Amino acid sequence: AVAPACTLVLFGAAGDLVKRLLVPSIYDLMVSGVLDPDFRIIGIDRAELTDETWRQNLYDALHQMAADPAAEFNAGSIREDVWCDLSGRLSYQHGDVTQDATYQALAARVHGSAIFYCAVAGRFFGPIADGLGKADLLQENAGDFRRLVVEKPFGDDLASARALDAKILGWAQEHQIYRIDHFLGKETVQAIMALRFANRIFEPLWSAEHLDHVQITAAEVLGVEGRGSFYERTGALRDMVPNHLFQVLAMVTMEPPKDLGERAVRDAKGRVLAAVQPVKPLDMVRGQYAAGTVNGAPRVSYREEPGVDPNSPIETYAALRLEIATPRWQGVPFYLRTGKRLSAHRTEIVLQFKPSAHSIFGGQPEANRLSLHIDGDKGLRTDFQIKAPGPGMALAPVAETFMHDDFFEHVPNIGYESLLYACMMGDASLFQRADAIEAPWVSVEPVLEAWKTGEPELYAAGSAGPASADALLARDGRAWASLQ
Ligand code: BG6
Repeated sequence: AVAPACTLVLFGAAGDLVKRLLVPSIYDLMVSGVLDPDFRIIGIDRAELTDETWRQNLYDALHQMAADPAAEFNAGSIREDVWCDLSGRLSYQHGDVTQDATYQALAARVHGSAIFYCAVAGRFFGPIADGLGKADLLQENAGDFRRLVVEKPFGDDLASARALDAKILGWAQEHQIYRIDHFLGKETVQAIMALRFANRIFEPLWSAEHLDHVQITAAEVLGVEGRGSFYERTGALRDMVPNHLFQVLAMVTMEPPKDLGERAVRDAKGRVLAAVQPVKPLDMVRGQYAAGTVNGAPRVSYREEPGVDPNSPIETYAALRLEIATPRWQGVPFYLRTGKRLSAHRTEIVLQFKPSAHSIFGGQPEANRLSLHIDGDKGLRTDFQIKAPGPGMALAPVAETFMHDDFFEHVPNIGYESLLYACMMGDASLFQRADAIEAPWVSVEPVLEAWKTGEPELYAAGSAGPASADALLARDGRAWASLQ
C-alpha cells in the first residue's frame, strides 16, 4: 500500500547515516512504489549546503553505495528516473538544531503530516525535542500525524535514557515516538520470529532443557571510519550492545507473543529483557584494536584514527556473558560479542545444543549446533551427526545450509526501508517501547561502571579479538564459533 503523504525532516542531513543509509533506503522505497506523490524531504544541518549541493552529495553517495558489493544497497546501478523524482522532493535548510530560529523557519515549511528524524549524535535528541515542542511542531491536528524518530544510543545509561524519555514526553505522546533500532529492520532478524514460532522442529528445542549455550556475534571488518569523534563518546558497548545485540537477544529468547500485534510483541520482548541479569564483574571483556593487517591491508590502531585521543581508553570490542532468569533459560549462558577491525564481517546467532542425554555410540559425539546468519550469506546452518558409510557404526559430523538467496529473489534491503515505511504507516511494532531500552541499560550498568576506569586489552586489527574474550568462554569449557 502507498504510505500517507508526509514531510520527512532529517536532522543531521549532511551526516553519514543520511547519506549511507536513510536516503538509499528512501530510494529503495521509491523503486517499490510505496511513496505518495506528495511525500517530501527536508534536510537540516549546520553544514553550508544548498538544495543543489546537498542533492549532489546524496547522488554521489548513492553511486558509491551501489558500487560497494558489501553494502546491502545493491541496485548495481542507480535508475536516473527514480533519482530525478527523488531529487525533486529534497530540499535543504541550513540550521543549528540548538537554535529556536531553526524550528521557526521549519514551522513555516511543514504543513500536514510530518516525521522528524533525529539522525544526529545522542546529545542533540533532547534539544531537538525541545525545539520542535516549543515551535508546536509536535502538535497533531485532526487527520494529520506528527512523529519523532529517535536513533540509538537512546541515552548513555539508565538515568539519561529516562531523562530523555521524560523530556520527549513533555512535548509528545508515547504513540508519536518511534525509537529506532535498525537491526529490527533486517529481514533476517524479523525472520527469527517466523523460524521459531512457525516451526515445531525448532521451537520445542529452544530452551534450557536442550541448549548448552547461545552466542550472539556482530563482528565487523570496518574500523571507526570517519566516526572517530562519535565513537570516542560512545564506544563499542553503547554503540552495539544494549540496543542491537539485546534486540537480537530478545528475538531469540522471548516467549511466543499472543499474536503479532504491537502490544503483544512488545510485551513479550519487554518481559524477557527485564529478566536479563546485571552482568557480573568477571563476565565482561573489553578490547581496543591495535595496528594490524586486515585482509592483506595494513591498518592503523584505533588510537591513530582521526578524531581519536592518542591515549584513548575507549573500547572497540566488547564481550559479555549474560544470564536470563526465566524458567525457559535457567542455566543457559548467553555470550555476546561485538567489535571493529576483526578478521571477518559476521553477524550471527549460534545455538549450541547439549550432547544426547544417553549416548549409545561410545565416547561423546559432537553436539548439534544451529547457526543463524543475519548478514552476508543470510540463512541458517545446522550441524548434526550421521552414520559414516561403511561397516560398523561410526559417526561423522555433517552440515546442512539454507541460504535465503537460493529461495527468494534478492531484494536490496538496508534495514531502514521497512522501518521508515512502518513509521509512515503508523505501525510501531518494529520500534521500541521505553521498557526495551531501559531494561538493557540496567543489565549493562555494572559494565558502564567498571569501564569508567582502567584500559581495554589490545587486539591486533584483523584478529578475532582480545585473548580475554576466549578465556571468558574457556573458563566455562566452551569456545567461540570461528569468525571465518
Ligand atoms: C550502527 C553502529 O548502529 O550499526 C555502527 O553505529 C555499526 O558502528 C552498525 O557499524 C552495524 O550495522 P550493520 O547493519 O552494518 O550490521
